[in-house]
Amino acid sequence: MPVTKDLSVEMCGVRFPNPICLSSSPVSNTGEMVGRAFDAGFGGVAFKTIGKGDIKIIHPAPRMAGYDYGNKKLVGLQNVEQISDRPLDHNLRDIRYLKKNWPEHVVIASIMGFSNDEWRELAIACQDAGADMLELNFSCPHMTVEGSGMKVGQAFDLVEKFSATVKAAVTIPVLAKMTPNVTDITEPALSAKMGGADGLAAINTVLGLTGVDMKNFIPSPNVGGMGAYSGYSGPAVKPIGLRCVAQMAQHPDLGLPISGMGGIETWIDAVEYLLVGSTTLQITSGVIHYGYRMVEDILEGISYFMEDHGFDHISDFVGKALPNVVSTDHFDLGRQGIAQYDLDRCIGCGQCHVVCQDAGGQCLTWNSATRRPVMDESRCLACMICSFVCPVSKPPMITYKEVPGKPEVMPPPSL
Ligand SMILES: Cc1cc2nc3c(=O)[nH]c(=O)nc-3n(C[C@H](O)[C@H](O)[C@H](O)COP(=O)(O)O)c2cc1C
Repeated sequence: MPVTKDLSVEMCGVRFPNPICLSSSPVSNTGEMVGRAFDAGFGGVAFKTIGKGDIKIIHPAPRMAGYDYGNKKLVGLQNVEQISDRPLDHNLRDIRYLKKNWPEHVVIASIMGFSNDEWRELAIACQDAGADMLELNFSCPHMTVEGSGMKVGQAFDLVEKFSATVKAAVTIPVLAKMTPNVTDITEPALSAKMGGADGLAAINTVLGLTGVDMKNFIPSPNVGGMGAYSGYSGPAVKPIGLRCVAQMAQHPDLGLPISGMGGIETWIDAVEYLLVGSTTLQITSGVIHYGYRMVEDILEGISYFMEDHGFDHISDFVGKALPNVVSTDHFDLGRQGIAQYDLDRCIGCGQCHVVCQDAGGQCLTWNSATRRPVMDESRCLACMICSFVCPVSKPPMITYKEVPGKPEVMPPPSL
């Protein structure tokens, strides 16, 4: 299906041919790689985080571990990669190369200083090389250089200070990339705004530990017999990313545009991130799984979605879901319902009965003659766990039905 819609967006005064960007990581490590990604359809890049080079960067080996679940490969990805180990002048040359050959595409230089002066110098150097924007990496959770990355993002006064340092040094827009590894992501986001940041990017990786080897008890990735809490990304973190973006987009005192990321693999993921308030989007783990060509399906899917809903511009639906995202105290508890069964399609497996007995409201009994569940509607908790285990899912055989006037279910009596 061809892309029929104008997918261009504007963020902080910079025009992107489409909102899909590579995020800062190995997928955006060199000019040659990013050029191929632009040719495949990516609209922009947050280039692999650039350091000054005064402290030598050595990546641990191995630097990643894949997290599989059942037959599904790479549900998550753990990494201990550091910022770029390339010399500063190589990275700057690559930024120049990209702007010369793909002038319509957006190059965001991600930077990380290890001192106030380094933040300033890196910002100026990247602006001089032609970067359209800067992204301040306040969020890498596993830097081996003490006091950098997420440690800055968790010290809100430093977020403000380094944002202000960079803003005072350059004229191009500045994004602050936030860590989800805080209690409330809007707090450091407000500090970035206080420091003058023009926009926000989130999420960087979630601090995680993907597994422990059963033979030698070493966590993965096994770096010379040791493991570490480190950055976790991919589809498994999408719910955290969506929540963080929505929280920042909804905060009444923030009002900054957001580049959203975390687990984007499909056009549906992309549209969801736009609906909760992202103006542009970034991807790493999806590219690690499927390659740059994944962007084709994403662009086609967004275009089709826009046709379907009658949207002419992406800005028509950025944040469209936010009015529907509330805190739970806003729920209307007078509206109750039940799980509704289309028993003509039931295959008689009995999983709904088991889960209702062992984790639900015990509203189902089992008719072994017909091999069908029988429901006492007054005891259904509407927890919907029966629908989660039901194998008849396309379309779902068990759906939620609101029942006007149904009283809430009474808690079970004690024995
Ligand atoms: C191997 C690897 C290296 C990364 N390096 C950086 C980095 O240098 N700078 C940065 O800001 N984020 C870095 N990230 C984080 C990603 O840019 C992104 O925020 C995160 O992976 C979530 O997106 P995803 O689920 O699409 O991967 C890295 C991620 C991975 C997997």
